[in-house]
Amino acid sequence: MGRFVLRPRPGSFAAIVGGSGITPVLSIAGTLLAREPQARFCLIRSDRTAASTMFLDEVADLKDRYPARFHLVTALSREEQSAGLPSGRLDRERLTGLLPALLPVTEMDGWFLCGPLGLVQGADRALRELGVDRTRIHQEIFHVEDGPAPAPRIDAPTDSTLTATLHGRSGSWPVQGAESLLETVLRSRSDAPYACKGGVCGTCRAHLVSGEVRMDRNFALEPEETEAGFVLACQSHPLTPEVELDFDR
Ligand code: FES
Repeated sequence: MGRFVLRPRPGSFAAIVGGSGITPVLSIAGTLLAREPQARFCLIRSDRTAASTMFLDEVADLKDRYPARFHLVTALSREEQSAGLPSGRLDRERLTGLLPALLPVTEMDGWFLCGPLGLVQGADRALRELGVDRTRIHQEIFHVEDGPAPAPRIDAPTDSTLTATLHGRSGSWPVQGAESLLETVLRSRSDAPYACKGGVCGTCRAHLVSGEVRMDRNFALEPEETEAGFVLACQSHPLTPEVELDFDR
């Protein structure tokens, strides 16, 4: 969706990644170091075991190619290693103690957090506690544990109609049962945008033109976006008899 990006520029950047969260960060770090000779990158990665670590060779290549500008810190949660951090998970508490010893936390020009929800939330809290400004923290969540769905609000209407504009065409449909507004649209419009259906990717973002909705969860929209009236259709349920969404904004 173009949100988790770093346009190459001089400065010092760092990433905290878990498991497959390395995927976008490997590209980000490689591109930054190749294009911007005044940039430095510190990669802090957490994996279960060495055997399950993705892109070991590619990350080692970055170390060989940019020894003065690329710094790698590895933590394995289920295995001791000869170099790197002692085994154990990188949770908020551990990161709060560890990060200031590794680098000047508040002077970094950008932090990139990517991986499972628990790791990203823990890293985000640790950075905020250490005084990092929210605008310097970028996040992409790769996996969210399914939790129980929030109970429906008793003041929610039993019958609601959704009007939605998508790719320049509008339509109105009844919202059936406890389905999300995305599911309402998908029944008639297979071109409705979505990927995760879990409130993580932001692909189903739409502007709430009128009415009110409740979102079950939101790991994708920034506070500025929700304040500007954007919602995640896959997580939204109507709180008013009429709701209108615009997917084209
Ligand atoms: S489809 Fe991913 S947040 Fe809605």
